[in-house]
Amino acid sequence: MSTSWEPGKGTASSSGDGGSRSQPGASATSGPTAPPSSNKTLYGRLQEGLASADPRTEVLDGVRERAHRRVISELGPVFYNNLVDQNELRARVARIVQAALQAERTPMSAAEAARVAQSVTDDVLGFGPIERLLHDTSISEIMVNGPERVYIERNGKILPTKVTFVDEAHLRHVVGRIVAEVGRHIDESSPMVDARLADGSRVNAIYPPLAVGGPFLTIRKFAADPFTLDDLVGFGTLTPQVGELLRACVQGRANLLVSGGASTGKTTLLNVLSSFIPPDERIITIEDAKELQLRQRHVVSLESRPANTEGKGEVAIRDLLRNALRMRPDRIIIGECRSGEALDMLQAMNTGHDGSLTTVHANSPRDALSRVETMTLMAGFDLPMRAVREQVSSALDVIVHLSRLRDGSRRVTHVTEVGHMEGEMVLLQDIFAFDYRSGADGAGRRGQLRATGIRPHFTERLADRGIHLDPAIFEPQVGPPRVDGRSYSSTAGWLK
Ligand SMILES: Nc1ncnc2c1ncn2[C@@H]1O[C@H](COP(=O)(O)OP(=O)(O)OP(=O)(O)O)[C@@H](O)[C@H]1O
Ligand SMILES: [Mg+2]
Repeated sequence: MSTSWEPGKGTASSSGDGGSRSQPGASATSGPTAPPSSNKTLYGRLQEGLASADPRTEVLDGVRERAHRRVISELGPVFYNNLVDQNELRARVARIVQAALQAERTPMSAAEAARVAQSVTDDVLGFGPIERLLHDTSISEIMVNGPERVYIERNGKILPTKVTFVDEAHLRHVVGRIVAEVGRHIDESSPMVDARLADGSRVNAIYPPLAVGGPFLTIRKFAADPFTLDDLVGFGTLTPQVGELLRACVQGRANLLVSGGASTGKTTLLNVLSSFIPPDERIITIEDAKELQLRQRHVVSLESRPANTEGKGEVAIRDLLRNALRMRPDRIIIGECRSGEALDMLQAMNTGHDGSLTTVHANSPRDALSRVETMTLMAGFDLPMRAVREQVSSALDVIVHLSRLRDGSRRVTHVTEVGHMEGEMVLLQDIFAFDYRSGADGAGRRGQLRATGIRPHFTERLADRGIHLDPAIFEPQVGPPRVDGRSYSSTAGWLK
């Protein structure tokens, strides 16, 4: 890979400790409103970044910086030489760092010295400045918008960090290293990579000319311990009642569609729903990049494959779905429907593979239906719209819609039953709907998911399968009274 290496100038580094040392926040220098500092030296940027650090951290950062400089000046372009054996390089870096630390006059505990050594090694050998962000379990997502702008998501909030790359060449080098780990290659002629790292994290990288002002790198970290229903209830994403309803739907083999905007938690909810599938059923999951983490033992995971650089070898979700139907599945889970596979999915749901689950990108339950209709047409058959709608209405039972509220929280805002056709339209009925006006819940979160009072038809089918739901789940609740004594009923509105 070509780089703009300049001896003595570039030192692969991050300014400050980013995510692990301090909570990245509005004071960060590389935030969206920060002036571009590309014409400043690394040390200038370091000084800025360290302005608010505590004195001890500042001292250790100084030590780190000196060790770093020594490694870079002694090894220099060796880092970019792909022929050098990585183990040998690691050993050489470790020796130089040790020598640099021994030459330090700064008193340090053994633990501090080890931390400094680790961070220098990470910077020069691992994934550079973002290595530490990758190890920080409180961070769920890392977004790199160029060498100077690195954002993270922590606790549902997107925050700028102080982490920076030396320059664009350094960023490209790290991106190249990340995608090379999964046997992929990225450059101007093949400028897009979407892949999964060995630890399960999902990586997307996109280069100019497709990415104006890029390269951009987005990493959705693998949740070592995926969220459970209790976690989602704890976050306020859904209520225990809705959790029970969804569990009954999955166990009773209802066909479920999870819908929502980008990053609203669709895959996470799909994973939770999948966990309700009884362990004696054969489950086949089909995804672009494997994200689902099922606990059941009888699971077959299939992953699609993009075309190679010659445009050959593509295996689409649709191909995998057709293959899956020949694998005697009890349940089929498609990570996300994006195209013509929607038609095959509906047909499978209508022909005995009920209890299937999938997600779709949409802004409301009604929008989810029209997305499914559009995708069905993408299968390339000239189907009349009425026929498509009939397929949709007889295949799907429930849409669970997720939204991200302004406070960053992810909430189920609708649980909607897909009914029969009425005229040209598919009937949709909300069983639960989010009431933005209702006051804070026990945990101080505004708005609540409330029963609308409508009892869905599919409960009868669930009852046929031996799954009985407490009718109280569907009863409209009256919210807690406000200061003025009024409370909200999900059917009658504001009550005196
Ligand atoms: N209910 C939730 N509460 C808090 N965080 C959540 C919740 N659900 C998901 N997350 C976090 O939000 C991020 C996005 O989640 P997820 O991948 O499930 O979203 P998605 O809607 O499938 O995104 P995409 O549109 O990219 O497919 C992840 O980091 C995940 O850990
Ligand atoms: Mg997803």
